[in-house]
Amino acid sequence: MITYTDSLDGITADGLRGGFFDGWGSPPTPETHLQILRGSFAVVLALDGDRVVGFITAVSDGVSAAYLPHLEVLPAYRGQGIGTALARQMLEKLNHLYMIDLICDADLQPFYERLGLRRYTAMIRRNYAAQSGTFELAD
Ligand SMILES: CC(C)(COP(=O)(O)OP(=O)(O)OC[C@H]1O[C@@H](n2cnc3c(N)ncnc32)[C@H](O)[C@@H]1OP(=O)(O)O)[C@@H](O)C(=O)NCCC(=O)NCCS
Repeated sequence: MITYTDSLDGITADGLRGGFFDGWGSPPTPETHLQILRGSFAVVLALDGDRVVGFITAVSDGVSAAYLPHLEVLPAYRGQGIGTALARQMLEKLNHLYMIDLICDADLQPFYERLGLRRYTAMIRRNYAAQSGTFELAD
């Protein structure tokens, strides 16, 4: 059975070893993943026992604006409503804020529209040398 929590109590790097950041060239390690969760303003996790199978994070000033940088469900658990539940619970937690923004691929826009978000434009910068969460100096 999948359960949901917004607490990091008892969550260890070992519980994050399922293969998150699927498809990333330089994925964060489970230890760095735990740092990402701890440094976030808010998190919601989907758990299968003590194993994390999905997560969403928010960074925020706590007053006006939040950005949702990460939402992922492990491939074997997708298509069961877990991603929707994670996003819904996070949006509920941030309901008091004016701005909630995220970046997604065009094919995911219908997924977020079903959750009440609307399409907009964005600007981004990506420093791929820092993708793993550990900045790597170029030679
Ligand atoms: C996006 C993601 C979190 C959805 O999680 P999930 O648990 O499968 O989501 P749900 O079961 O609640 O909803 C599934 C629906 O999402 C939509 N969806 C998910 N991924 C999609 C994609 N890449 N393209 C188009 N639609 C997608 C589909 O409509 C799907 O409906 P279906 O089950 O009828 O096919 C998951 O696919 C994932 O981790 N993807 C990789 C990371 C990612 O892209 N994260 C989003 C960052 S903005």
